[in-house]
Amino acid sequence: MDKLTVRDFDPAGKRILVRVDFNVPIEDGKVKDDTRIRASLPTIRYLLERGGRVVLMSHLGRPNGKVIESARLRPVAQRLGELLRMAVPCTGDALGIGTEDAVGRLKNGQVLLLENLRFHAAEEANDPAFAKALAAYGEVYVNDAFGTAHRAHASTVGVPQILPAFAGLLMEREIVNLSRLLENPEKPFAAVIGGAKVSGKIKVLEHLMEKVDFFVIGGGMANTFLVAQGHSVGKSLLEKDRVEDAQRILAAAEERGVRILLPTDIVVAKEVTRGAEHKIVPVHKIPNSWSAVDVGPASTAAFEAALAEARTVVWNGPLGVFEVPTFGDGTRSMARFLSRHAQAGNTVVVGGGDSVAAVEELKLAETFTHVSTGGGASLEFLEGQELPGIAILRDRAAA
Ligand code: 3PG
Repeated sequence: MDKLTVRDFDPAGKRILVRVDFNVPIEDGKVKDDTRIRASLPTIRYLLERGGRVVLMSHLGRPNGKVIESARLRPVAQRLGELLRMAVPCTGDALGIGTEDAVGRLKNGQVLLLENLRFHAAEEANDPAFAKALAAYGEVYVNDAFGTAHRAHASTVGVPQILPAFAGLLMEREIVNLSRLLENPEKPFAAVIGGAKVSGKIKVLEHLMEKVDFFVIGGGMANTFLVAQGHSVGKSLLEKDRVEDAQRILAAAEERGVRILLPTDIVVAKEVTRGAEHKIVPVHKIPNSWSAVDVGPASTAAFEAALAEARTVVWNGPLGVFEVPTFGDGTRSMARFLSRHAQAGNTVVVGGGDSVAAVEELKLAETFTHVSTGGGASLEFLEGQELPGIAILRDRAAA
């Protein structure tokens, strides 16, 4: 990797300001899914074990510059404390004398968490005075918040303009695994792309078109492709204004010799709700008043047969309305198949979003080559965009 990491400085006795992405679901005052907290433990432990004084900072939700009680980070500090088996105090505000004192009192090997950065509108505005106030808490800056690396905020871009800035171990793992897909994938390389809307996936399809041997497309976005091929999709989710984009992508793929596998059979339902009447139909027979909710078993079999040949696979987005359990079979089958494929020695990366929820739910995350902690960030990375929170970190070549 061409960025300097925590291994490139001596943490002993230093105050280290670490941006983490602890934007995790909280329910009844408790962390519901601690994946992102656990993902940053290697960096936090690395710094603490070497005598660093660690000041953690994160956002939670989108409080838009206001203090919202349900977006306080105390439950996160509590969970982190349990995982680290040590006290993790959480300040009442990211700024103020009390916080400055708490940071000043930190001893080697101790950690604290600043309150939700987004209680200050200055965070998202990348306000220089706010960045300067945060930067005063540390001598060195570490970014481990891959999930927020696509945001140019005070804590991701402003602070590293002031302090020497290094990548954390999670950030490094994300960059290495996702870059390998784009720069040096072992062939054949396949991308499984799903999710509700094609509009959010056009750029990733276009960028990956130059890299992959074939695409598997499912989820609501497949409907727009089916319409582009002349099928009618009944009441299914459809982005009419994107049909031309889908046609363009199909034509570009044909020209490049990139195969696009679309569903051949579909689970359709009368309503997109739990318990609704549903059946399997071929894609050319979707009834007018029914909606596509999942890929059918013949599609799953065809997808798996093709993917069995792929040495590298990236997966982003569910293949059906996964949040309704009855309509999640296609997504769960894909998760299980790709897990086995990874365990058979192939590279399989799950690139963020709801497909991550599927592998987590099935407790398969550990079996994959890499499961990204970024949603929007991993998508933008796969689109080939430079993420501001990564670009600003120190380059190895310049060091
Ligand atoms: C995420 O959950 O994708 C990140 O934490 C970024 O959150 P945001 O979309 O509110 O900036």
